[in-house]
Parts: sequence; C-alpha cells; structure tokens
Amino acid sequence: MTNNINTLPRSDDVVIVGGGLAGLFCALKLAPRPVILISAAPLGQGASSAWAQGGIAAAMAEGDTPEAHAADTVAVGGGIVDEAVALGIAREAAPRIHDLLAYGVPFDRDLEGRLAVGREAAHSARRIVHVRGDGAGAAIIAALSEAVRRTPSIRLIEGFVAEALLTEDGAVAGLRLREAGDAAAQPILLAARMVVLATGGIGHLYAVTTNPREASGSGLAIAARAGAVIADPEFVQFHPTAIMVGRDPAPLATEALRGEGATLINGRGERFMAARHPLAELAPRDIVARGVFAEISAGRGAFLDARQALGARFADRFPTVHASCIAAGIEPATQAIPIAPAAHYHMGGIAVDDRGRSSIDGLWAGGEVSSTGAHGANRLASNSLLEAVVYAARIADDIAGRTTPSPAR
Ligand code: SIN
Repeated sequence: MTNNINTLPRSDDVVIVGGGLAGLFCALKLAPRPVILISAAPLGQGASSAWAQGGIAAAMAEGDTPEAHAADTVAVGGGIVDEAVALGIAREAAPRIHDLLAYGVPFDRDLEGRLAVGREAAHSARRIVHVRGDGAGAAIIAALSEAVRRTPSIRLIEGFVAEALLTEDGAVAGLRLREAGDAAAQPILLAARMVVLATGGIGHLYAVTTNPREASGSGLAIAARAGAVIADPEFVQFHPTAIMVGRDPAPLATEALRGEGATLINGRGERFMAARHPLAELAPRDIVARGVFAEISAGRGAFLDARQALGARFADRFPTVHASCIAAGIEPATQAIPIAPAAHYHMGGIAVDDRGRSSIDGLWAGGEVSSTGAHGANRLASNSLLEAVVYAARIADDIAGRTTPSPAR
C-alpha cells in the first residue's frame, strides 16, 4: 500500500531507504514485519540494479563450486578481498537464487530445464544466471517491485530522499526526508530506531557513467555525516565497455558479450588485449578498462566487435544492448560498437560486518552503498547483485532477531 508521508506513525517499523535490489529484497524478507520503504524514484526506476545486464554469479552448474567462485573473487580483488566474506556470499548464492525464483524472477533455462549459466570476465567457469540474455537486472527489479506492491506489511513511500540520518547518543533516532528534486520542500522528520540504507552507489558523480542519476552517493554521505565508519571509498570500478554515443548515462555493453567471443579492437581493426593479459578480452575488468583507455588516449579509438562471434544472433541473444545500439544508429551484427570505460560500481562504502551492521547502533547497510569486504579493490563481474541479496537476507535475519526494540534513547 502507498501512504502519504504525513500520515506515517512514529513506530518501531523498520525503515529501508532505497528501491533497488538490496532494499526490495530486504523488505520482502522482513515480511510480515512492518517496513517503511522509501524510494527516491517510482519503484522500478532509478536503481542501478535494474540496469544490470550480466546477471548473478552463482556456482550452480555441474562441476562448479562456491570455493572456485570465491577463489576467482579473491584473485581479481587487488589483494584486499576478505576471503571469508567472498566464500560466504558464494555459498549463499544458491538459496538466494531459489528465493528469487520464488518471487517470480524468470531466470533463463537450458533445454533440459536447468538454469542456464553464462561466462563473464575473470570467472573460471560459466556461472552467471541471467534473464532473457542481457535483461537480468530489469527482470529482477520488475518481479520484486511487483512482490513488494502485493505485500501489505510494506508501506511504500515513493519520491522522497533521505537527506540526514538522525542519531541520539550514538544510535539511530530517525531520518530527515525531503521530496526528491525539490530542495525548497519542507523537510519531514521520521522517527526510527532501525534504518537500512540501500541507496546504491556514487557513479553519477562522474562525467561518464553507466549509473542512473539517483546514484549520487546520498546514502554514503548521510551515513558519513552521522559518523559511520566508511571503508575503501577510493575504489571505484570502471566498466570497460560503455557504449559511446553521447548519452548520459552511457548504455552498457555487457561483459557477457565478450564471454560469448566478442573481441576488442582499435580503429585500425587490431585486437589489443591479447598483448596485455593472457586472458585477453576476459582479463579482470580493471585491466581491460585500462587497455581500452590506453587505445583511446593514443588516438586509436576502441570498439567492441561482435560481428563474427554473434552476427545475426546479436538481437536475439542481447536484446537490451542491441536496442541501445540501434537507437544510436549502429547495427552491431555488422558494425563494431564504439566504447569507452565508464564509472560503474563503488567498491567502497559504509563499513558493515557479516550481518550488515554498520558502526552506528540501529543502522544497517546493504548493496552498493555498503562495504562488506567482498570486492576488495576490484569487483568480480556479477558479484554485486549476489552480494546485495545475500546481505539483504542477512540484515532481515538480524533485524528479525531483535524481538524487542532497543531501549529508549
Ligand atoms: C556487465 O554485464 O558487464 C555488468 C555486470 C556487472 O557489472 O557485474
């Protein structure tokens, strides 16, 4: 049900800020416990999760293991991945995928009815579960938004942003909210003892980004101003293959294209990644992004070439990327796609423990706004949606374990 914000009771409801994957999943996992879910944009819009094209990394195929997944996660993380955290999220992947299936997410299946798994850079196995090729994020957010709207215990407040986290004696006391996009609007104070921030990343602070406007770092900022410990804020991941057609945000050309054999070439038609890394186009994302940047800086330009690998199958296999190309006048079955690196994901964030608890009593953080230790300095592709659902479920469990509200503050 949707409420007018002025009618909200000051209660012990859990307040979740953010309508992306972590926020929606946590709200659903908390049901039937009352939850107030605040989203800056109408539900289903304005969340980076909805734009994710790859899918969710999950070691569910025969012969693959969570241990192999965790080892790949550690290998790309620049030496600072927390190995126990990486193994933890890899082990909880399968149950969370089953939760998403139960919420109605139509993951692609193979001819035998098993979940179909794709390959992405720096994964040693095919382990990315996906929807309609490159539509995982949109399909997941659509299914969960629908489930949230059907859940009576979730009060949905759309069109409001949290502009301050209020604390008293070092513990959460509430939020100051304001209507999104109206700096002159009267702020509204909402008393709350339990707040979950799931506000996404900071990508839109950058000139070239794959992130929506709402990814402005607001959740990180209000937590920092309230005194929460922030970890690794310097680690920002650039996606190597944003489509350069003058759009903001820059449309993404998913890494799964390279998993299916698409190559990277410069304006002279030369492949340039093989000389930079033994895995060539499937090298870790930071290395590929640097390779693309070097070609562009040298004036040679950079292109993603799927003509041989996919050709006429492109539209069918990657409909989202195909539509972005066609809108820009590029037919990727017969033309190489102009690309550049773009700010894509923030590995740093509000430092949280293995239950998603921040350093402030009563404040949890999940999804991109948090820093769990899973990604180190460089996130492995398709680990972000996984981390979001794993931690959202853990946060819900942790909150459910708090049978009585914290003592009066
Ligand atoms: C992609 O599909 O290339 C993006 C996936 C991700 O960022 O994890």
